[in-house]
Amino acid sequence: MKAGEKFVMRAAVVVMIGIIGFAAYMEMGSRSKAPEDRAAQMMEMNAPAAAMMLIPKGTTPASLPESQSAGALALAKYCARCHDLPTPTMHATQDWPVVLERMHGYIRTRRGGMMGAVIMPSDRDWQDLHQYLGVHGQKAADTAQLAELNTSEGRVFKSNCSRCHAAPDPAQHAADEWPSVVERMKKNMLNAGKPVPDDDTTKTIISFLKKHSAAETR
Ligand code: HEC
Ligand code: HEC
Repeated sequence: MKAGEKFVMRAAVVVMIGIIGFAAYMEMGSRSKAPEDRAAQMMEMNAPAAAMMLIPKGTTPASLPESQSAGALALAKYCARCHDLPTPTMHATQDWPVVLERMHGYIRTRRGGMMGAVIMPSDRDWQDLHQYLGVHGQKAADTAQLAELNTSEGRVFKSNCSRCHAAPDPAQHAADEWPSVVERMKKNMLNAGKPVPDDDTTKTIISFLKKHSAAETR
């Protein structure tokens, strides 16, 4: 090896060691922080982007169910300031309180929003939001009632359809409505960067939903 090459090699090794050492030092630094701090840091960086991906675009205040009710007006007033307006059917009625609690935290700390644009709802408005989403939310599958969730078809359905919200109750749609709902969900998955089921898996999911749909149960 020529002297010049040796020098380059040595220099490269020194630089590598420097980089590894620095990375280890940074890692130690971040480990010593409380886990909440790290979670907060992560949230600060990519939370609004995550919300923008999860919440489909295009919902307008006028298209909300009972759009002139206190709950719909509160949703439109407070819930489109950091991300797009979410539809009430995005979560099951019983899951909304947890989401609202998290949003309360973001609003308090103004995380993910522009200063000044974010407003804290009054207690009355929070109540209206809870009430509204508790009525107009999506209906989750009753895992105690729907024993077939434990069949292989049921498990395919559950693993694909409970990534963003609770596994939905198949009885909330008629059999002929499910294919188009599933197609819309595949678009939601694509937008959110989640794995999209292939054709065979889609068929299995639709077959399960149809079997337990409103048309079958009534
Ligand atoms: C101060 C900013 C802010 C406001 C105001 C806000 N959010 Fe969010 N929201 C976020 C952030 C940040 C995320 C992404 C991180 C997460 O999901 O925890 C998010 C994500 C979401 C999501 C997608 C994640 C999920 O769990 O499905 C929903 C739905 C949502 N918000 C609903 C609401 C509702 C309803 C309101 C009105 C009460 C609201 N948001 C008001 C900051 C805000
Ligand atoms: C990438 C996240 C995501 C996944 C995964 C997902 N959904 Fe959804 N789902 C949403 C969002 C967002 C909404 C509200 C907006 C809408 O209806 O498109 C929703 C709403 C719903 C609703 C209520 C609205 C209606 O038309 O009745 C049902 C039912 C539903 N999803 C079924 C499913 C099924 C079945 C699957 C599995 C094939 C699934 N979801 C997987 C995001 C998701």
